[in-house]
Amino acid sequence: MATRVSHETPYQATIGQWIWTPPARLDARDVRCLTSRRVLPHNDPMDLDQLAALRTPVGVSALASAAELAGGDPLVASAALRSAGIPGALAASALTQAELRLRAVEKFGPAAAGMFFTRPGLEQATRSVVAGRRARRLRAAGVRTLADLGCGLGADALAAARAGIRVYGVEADPATAALAAANAEAAGLADRFTVVCADAEEFDLAGVDAVFCDPARRAADGRRIFDPAAYSPPWDFVVGLADRVARTVVKVGPGLDHRLIPPGAEAEWVSVDHDLVEATLWCGPLAQVPRRASLLRSKEGPPVIAPGSRRIPYQPSARTRDRDSGGRDGSGAEVDQLTGSGTVEAPVGPVRRYVYDPDGAVVRAHLVAEFAATVGGTLADPTIAYVYADQPVPTRFARCLEVSDVLAFSLKRLRALLRQRGVGRVEILKRGSALDPERLRRNLRLSGAEPATLVLTRVVGAPTVLVCRPVPSTG
Ligand SMILES: C[S@@+](CC[C@H](N)C(=O)[O-])C[C@H]1O[C@@H](n2cnc3c(N)ncnc32)[C@H](O)[C@@H]1O
Repeated sequence: MATRVSHETPYQATIGQWIWTPPARLDARDVRCLTSRRVLPHNDPMDLDQLAALRTPVGVSALASAAELAGGDPLVASAALRSAGIPGALAASALTQAELRLRAVEKFGPAAAGMFFTRPGLEQATRSVVAGRRARRLRAAGVRTLADLGCGLGADALAAARAGIRVYGVEADPATAALAAANAEAAGLADRFTVVCADAEEFDLAGVDAVFCDPARRAADGRRIFDPAAYSPPWDFVVGLADRVARTVVKVGPGLDHRLIPPGAEAEWVSVDHDLVEATLWCGPLAQVPRRASLLRSKEGPPVIAPGSRRIPYQPSARTRDRDSGGRDGSGAEVDQLTGSGTVEAPVGPVRRYVYDPDGAVVRAHLVAEFAATVGGTLADPTIAYVYADQPVPTRFARCLEVSDVLAFSLKRLRALLRQRGVGRVEILKRGSALDPERLRRNLRLSGAEPATLVLTRVVGAPTVLVCRPVPSTG
């Protein structure tokens, strides 16, 4: 019989003062004794001795030295630390942390330098621009107390605490829980973020006014899990949360099947610098619209999407910006949003002079029709999300290319055309085509100096290639 766990139980760990004293070395048996029902997969064991050692004055200085050496040759770095008198085991864990902190800068910015990570924890952590925005939306909706079920290293919980919310982060893996607690302390948020080491399914939700859950979607060997029933906690438990606490928010992978969206919930797809990162389900009174695509930009200026490709030609578009979106949202990220029902179909027509490649968040949110309306666009195939229009309308929601040639797909004809144009470098985009871009690139045997973008697609069912160039006026 499962025991209920609440933030009043001895499993509670406030920062720096674990009420439950964890064993020195953790293994699956220790996890089992804490989580009455499940043993979580862990492929990056971290023992609590290592964390404790890193937090001593010697450990702090080892971390500082390791930070100077991170990113270079690991053998040289390790030898340098040991010759400075740092014991081998401490040197190794300091170097691992320093390397992880370096990698974490992309997600957490300068704050990464003071945080503690495991490799899987970092991979699964929500980047701060996304977590910060979500936390502010929760706070604006009046949330004051939040349970973060499966808080991992605490990226979402820290953002919520920063937004002024009292957070209970529930984490089944003791080492991850300890790192989350250390991260709360490092961020100066220990008074607002309490880590509870327990099974989320056992946690008593009576004392909170909102719940957030970001279930683990990776197997022990690091592979992604696509079957929601295999998530941890499992999908039935996760979607059932909204029946227990109306203000429930669930983070899921961007590949979320629309049939899994609970009735009445808002499903939001989020991209950062045009990289599709997640979907979020907003349940109960938190739902504002059926579907939303949120495009966040973490960097100044338009991002580059592929080596050798030009910058994405995004410009502000008053028509497609929500009134409360755009501009700085307080996290250093600019955000543009498109909303709609997710059920409207875009009109279909011929290939036109300009082709728009919508951001992945727009496509996954099923808001292509809403986007097409903003540029007076049509699809050339009802099932493919390329939008065609007569004008290069400035927009942040899609990349715009000018179509110079439309060919029914034939390798021979394409090769001859590119040769004739002196094209030696191609960027290849595709939707609705089974062709392998790299194989095609090799088979084209390009030799000129000119660049071009090839769009592999279907037009009324027929395999087609569009030869395109960027649109200077929107670049
Ligand atoms: C995707 S990660 C959460 C990442 C977190 N949102 C962040 O941004 O840092 C999911 C976490 O849930 C934990 N977990 C999985 N099943 C759990 C359960 N039944 N109870 C508590 N924690 C669980 C895993 O150990 C993992 O750390």
